[in-house]
Amino acid sequence: MSLIQLFKSNGPSGFGYGSTAEQVTEGLSLEGQNILVTGCNSGLGFEAMRVLAMRGARVLGTARDIDKAKAACAQVTGATLPFACELSDPESVRGCVDEVKRSGIRLDAIIANAGIMALPKLERAYGYELQFFTNHIGHFILVTGLLDQLTDAGRVVMLSSEAHRNAPKEGIQFDNLTGKKGYSAWGNYGQSKIANLLFAKELSRRFAGTKKTANAVHPGVIATNLGRHMNVAARAVFGLVGPLFLKSIPQGAATEVYVAVHPGAASISGEYFANCNVAKARADGLDPELAKKLWDVSEKIVRELPNS
Ligand SMILES: NC(=O)c1ccc[n+]([C@@H]2O[C@H](COP(=O)([O-])OP(=O)(O)OC[C@H]3O[C@@H](n4cnc5c(N)ncnc54)[C@H](OP(=O)(O)O)[C@@H]3O)[C@@H](O)[C@H]2O)c1
Repeated sequence: MSLIQLFKSNGPSGFGYGSTAEQVTEGLSLEGQNILVTGCNSGLGFEAMRVLAMRGARVLGTARDIDKAKAACAQVTGATLPFACELSDPESVRGCVDEVKRSGIRLDAIIANAGIMALPKLERAYGYELQFFTNHIGHFILVTGLLDQLTDAGRVVMLSSEAHRNAPKEGIQFDNLTGKKGYSAWGNYGQSKIANLLFAKELSRRFAGTKKTANAVHPGVIATNLGRHMNVAARAVFGLVGPLFLKSIPQGAATEVYVAVHPGAASISGEYFANCNVAKARADGLDPELAKKLWDVSEKIVRELPNS
């Protein structure tokens, strides 16, 4: 058990730091619900898929390729459907959108969970810095492409991070989305995670007057494959302190699962959650003007991609 858990009490939702995905769904039947989870083959995405399927939902699990998605789905008890969705490849993302649409399945929730963190060197896709492109633009194409598939009370959950606080002081460096004017592993990860937060904010504005919701979450700090780009020493420290100071994977998956399916979150939208409760984000992370600007710029980026 994490030592931090001993000092944290539950919040108004009745859940908190130590709650697991199984605990936040205890007693809920998700029979008849369809929930799409990106990055279903690893870490928090796999645990979210496992628990949602265990509670009766049919989970549309996406991974970079169909073999990974199939292998992950095969390890889970319950109804799952595998899809390929390589977020840094717009053609793959659009293929996933088309396939979900062709299936005719209406989605009760989309959990935009997949992500990469702290790439040591500047990498790009289509000329854009890779963390921004994968974590934000890939999910932007996916979620906006699937909006018509959402049920009337459909929920969109974006995986952000407390690391959004490391974003540049202007939030998003619109004049440096290529990374050409400067790159930092954590600064650019932070920028991609504040982008996830701003996307949820603008989407919630667009959902106003409906029962649909869009929120962002910080899952906690959990030792998963996300640390694969950190250097060996950092990973070793992470591995050592993990059991004592970090959340477990079942605890890490709790907040995204809570926001996606718990009745207590049904009418909350445009917020940032941590430890299964509404939390305080960096002020500009929920700034409606910045959120609108990012949406407009993202639409333009997507429109100008090849084969769009
Ligand atoms: N773990 C933490 O402490 C922590 C803290 C704050 C926020 N988060 C957020 O939580 C989310 C889940 O992370 P995790 O800890 O579960 O990490 P993880 O175990 O590394 O899982 C990340 C998932 O994203 C997938 N992915 C990465 N790049 C992709 C791409 N280009 N296209 C499609 N899928 C891609 C990975 O697929 P492959 O396995 O094929 O690479 C994997 O399935 C991330 O968005 C992360 O930013 C995590």
